[in-house]
Amino acid sequence: MKILVTGGAGYIGSHTVIELQQAGHQVVVVDNLYNASEKSIQRVTAITGQAVHFYQVDIRDREGLTRVMEEHQFDCCIHFAGLKAVGESVAKPLEYYDNNIAGTLVLLDVMRNHGCKNIIFSSSATVYGNPAVIPITEECPKGQCTNPYGQTKSMIEQIMMDMQKADPEWNVVLLRYFNPIGAHPSGTMGEDPNGIPNNLMPYITQVAIGKRPELGVFGDDYDTPDGTGVRDYIHVVDLAVGHVKALAAVEKGCGLAIYNLGTGKGYSVLDVAHAFEEASGVKIPYSIKPRRAGDIATCYSDPAKAERELGWKAQYGILEMCRDSWNWQKNNPNGYRD
Ligand code: NAD
Ligand code: UD1
Repeated sequence: MKILVTGGAGYIGSHTVIELQQAGHQVVVVDNLYNASEKSIQRVTAITGQAVHFYQVDIRDREGLTRVMEEHQFDCCIHFAGLKAVGESVAKPLEYYDNNIAGTLVLLDVMRNHGCKNIIFSSSATVYGNPAVIPITEECPKGQCTNPYGQTKSMIEQIMMDMQKADPEWNVVLLRYFNPIGAHPSGTMGEDPNGIPNNLMPYITQVAIGKRPELGVFGDDYDTPDGTGVRDYIHVVDLAVGHVKALAAVEKGCGLAIYNLGTGKGYSVLDVAHAFEEASGVKIPYSIKPRRAGDIATCYSDPAKAERELGWKAQYGILEMCRDSWNWQKNNPNGYRD
């Protein structure tokens, strides 16, 4: 199939481009490079041996997107482009709503105008809020998101559901990611956060490489086995493969479909720090800090639906996730900025 990948220079997008090319799909990437480097695209090519057709275009730029759509006849779009920093979204809600919501509206309209009515969207487990049931199935009701970033995911899901209901020619797959970590096993591609990392794994790898003195553990008084927050960490390559599997559902004409992409296993903050020490041989000093606003105690998936319907199941375990995150950080101390 010929696939438009928005945000394809970013962390999850670039890993997905590899899996798409290796599965025989043709890929065109659109990214405004706001949170990415074109180097990730070059590294994709170094791994797959295939060129990636790349456009530096903002998805809010209707003319720019229209030009891309006129040059290519796409079978499907995988839509990663978006802003994703939770804290920043609280400080800059208008920028987040504009980029994520307005950008998606332009994208969907331009797609429709060019007869491409198949889309796979990067949603998040954040739409479940504080989940009503654990492990979380897709039937779990959506919850209250505590920040504008999460709201954009929930609203975009709703927009796409309404669109698909009004026009059943659309096939819409909403993929709710749990916590993506890890990096390509080659050690040449990975997550490259700007400034101080917000998320756990990039913070740990920066402690390991000596950029930060210690890990702050946000709360040890949650109702979890060791008191620290429990999450469902998933290797980014497994996540990427999930998108390739979702394409098959689109091809079959799935209408609206929603899948959790997680492993089904929960690890605490201290479990992850200890697994990282085991995988890397590097000690991670830490101290306990207050809880982070908006955090929940426990969040992990029931991934059975994706296995049953897509034939997808995560293959990598926590030690491999830590190994690959470390391998990337060690080989590229400044990410793509070297
Ligand atoms: P990322 O920031 O690495 O990738 C997003 C890409 O989109 C970047 O390359 C950025 O330059 C691009 N982009 C942003 N706004 C754009 C615009 N208006 N026009 C064109 N390009 C634009 O983030 P990621 O971790 O790879 O996440 C990809 C998607 O998955 C995002 O939608 C994110 O919200 C979602 N998601 C991520 C996680 C996670 O933990 N990383 C979890 C759940 C969902
Ligand atoms: C966060 C976002 C979520 C987003 C996801 C992926 C919040 C409230 N949620 O999820 O919306 O979809 O990232 O981008 O921000 N932790 C520490 N020390 C740190 C960093 C994290 O103890 O320095 C803990 C957290 O309290 C949490 C766990 O590690 O228990 C995982 O945190 P993180 O990686 O930020 O992911 P989430 O909070 O699950």
